[in-house]
Amino acid sequence: MMLRGRTALVTGGTRGIGRAIAGRLLREGVAVAICGRSSASVERAVEELASSGGANICGTQADIGSINDVRQLFAFVDRELGGTDILINNAGVAVLCPIAEMSPEQWERTIAVNLTGVFHCCREAVAQFRRRGGGFIINIGSLLGKTAVAGGAAYCASKFGLNGLSEAIMLDCRNENIGVSTIVPGSVDTELFGASAGADWKIQPEDVAQAVVTVLEMPQRTLVSRVEMRPLKPRR
Ligand SMILES: NC(=O)c1ccc[n+]([C@@H]2O[C@H](COP(=O)([O-])OP(=O)(O)OC[C@H]3O[C@@H](n4cnc5c(N)ncnc54)[C@H](OP(=O)(O)O)[C@@H]3O)[C@@H](O)[C@H]2O)c1
Repeated sequence: MMLRGRTALVTGGTRGIGRAIAGRLLREGVAVAICGRSSASVERAVEELASSGGANICGTQADIGSINDVRQLFAFVDRELGGTDILINNAGVAVLCPIAEMSPEQWERTIAVNLTGVFHCCREAVAQFRRRGGGFIINIGSLLGKTAVAGGAAYCASKFGLNGLSEAIMLDCRNENIGVSTIVPGSVDTELFGASAGADWKIQPEDVAQAVVTVLEMPQRTLVSRVEMRPLKPRR
């Protein structure tokens, strides 16, 4: 896909991986919309992305765990950017604790955002891509969706589920000029798991953004449906 002049929605673009993807797509000439749960964090990220050279950036408050918010988000992108060519399902939450200490609310919230929210976004996007003659979805999975860890009941279940969701949608859509790909990183240098960012041995958010661009720029005949990324030299 030629990126210049396209439009993209990056869910959860206020910080971390989503923020890096939004910044990279802007530099590639894509008009980008982001969202997050708080208006203040969205406004701040939009200002910062705009001041680092991305004029074609907009954003709105939307909780991906709410189907109504997802519908309003797609309506916002329609109004602001004239529709969506690329959907990056990046927004995610993580809770790591043993099953006996995990509350039903933590379980439900994790599945609602990381799995059901992705379903709602994909469903909206595919309906729109069909009208526009094509499009591309990239889902940000996790290596914890391939190998479980203790404490990961909700997070691992959501990311294992995301693999199946992505693959099924890829098969549904591949003949309609709609690509679906999953990028599956290991440890990325963000604050998702409560650590502070700054560990240079980890994958950097910009490296995931690089993978996004590589996948999108593949020749039209070829779909890279899954990318696994891991730190070259992991530390524990
Ligand atoms: N960091 C890692 O090691 C790692 C590894 C593999 C995969 N991943 C995946 O990469 C994705 C991004 O993670 P990250 O590390 O960049 O995390 P992060 O720094 O915590 O950023 C998460 C982003 O998602 C947004 N978000 C969270 N819940 C949301 C909701 N319900 N609705 C809308 N936006 C929401 C946050 O914005 P607000 O807080 O403003 O809502 C923020 O922009 C996640 O799907 C994660 O599972 C991360």
